[in-house]
Amino acid sequence: MSELRTVEWANGRVRMIDQTRIPYKFRYVAFKDYKQVAKAIRDMVVRGAPAIGVAAAMGLALAASSSHATTREQLIKELEAAADVLRRSRPTAWNLFWAIDRILRKAQAGGGGPSDIAAQVVNEALRMAEEDVEANRKIGEYGAELLEDGDCVLTHCNTGTLATVSYGTALAPIRTAVTQGKKIRVIATETRPRLQGAKLTTYELLRDRIPVTLIVDGAVGYVMRKGLVKKAIVGADRITARFVANKVGTYLIALAAQANQIPFYVAAPSSTFDLRQDHTEVNIEERSSQEVTHIGGKRIVPKGVKVFNPAFDLTPVDLVRGFITEKGVVAADRLRAGLFGA
Ligand code: MRU
Repeated sequence: MSELRTVEWANGRVRMIDQTRIPYKFRYVAFKDYKQVAKAIRDMVVRGAPAIGVAAAMGLALAASSSHATTREQLIKELEAAADVLRRSRPTAWNLFWAIDRILRKAQAGGGGPSDIAAQVVNEALRMAEEDVEANRKIGEYGAELLEDGDCVLTHCNTGTLATVSYGTALAPIRTAVTQGKKIRVIATETRPRLQGAKLTTYELLRDRIPVTLIVDGAVGYVMRKGLVKKAIVGADRITARFVANKVGTYLIALAAQANQIPFYVAAPSSTFDLRQDHTEVNIEERSSQEVTHIGGKRIVPKGVKVFNPAFDLTPVDLVRGFITEKGVVAADRLRAGLFGA
């Protein structure tokens, strides 16, 4: 899978792997304006925090390159309006906000007329895509050092190529360790209700011939207690000084890992870290009740049942043995210094 790109710029359009169809069908879809990109993010055609960030950056690149603005002020106003739409697509992944702000800063600092700024915006989005792949390769190298030959690693949701531009975050150390000749097995959780683990992680790992066993989410405690898991590695949608916001179920995995003395790691690029000083709350996305009440379009629960469907949860950082980043493996109490030198 690491030869594939989940999001890319192709002939003035944004091309993405349609993740709503995997594993039944593998197809690309192309988008020609930022509103379509915002919808693709909302509908989870593209998902996974780093992939969402780069998709939004490319959405702004579409807005810039198709603009008829005659002044730079006009172009920047249009980009800010597009940014507002893209920001509302999904609320938790920090990479989305980070990417949009970076593109807007680039446009504001850009030199020349509207078409020059548009070209600079497109280049910045392309650079961000390359940086994501480079960061993931580094995460792979640093993370592989933590893995021993014969390890079985439990992971949650999908954190592979499909969740990034390519290669992945939590799957990167596994991929790199396997390339180094280590025998690594993976236990993937199903990840109710959208089943990213069942549908996407198993798809990626089978394609790469990395041994994977699928379990239901509720089996995590049992497999850990039984001694079947040596390490747990998950990704993240947003990391603050106190919490890791990641796919719902992550907190229970971290607690089960602690109870069973299993090292629990979080793998993420620095674009996922929201270490603003004044920051207190993480906006946890709540998705439609239909994701829980229906499977394959068929209702599986009594009509009228009340549903609460948070897409993410919050794991306290002290449950994390280390954050595997492109700058090295960083401890929770050294995040600011380890990542941003501050
Ligand atoms: O709702 P999703 O599928 O976008 O959630 C994805 C996750 O929770 C991933 O663990 C996270 O984005 C890290 S992916 C590299």
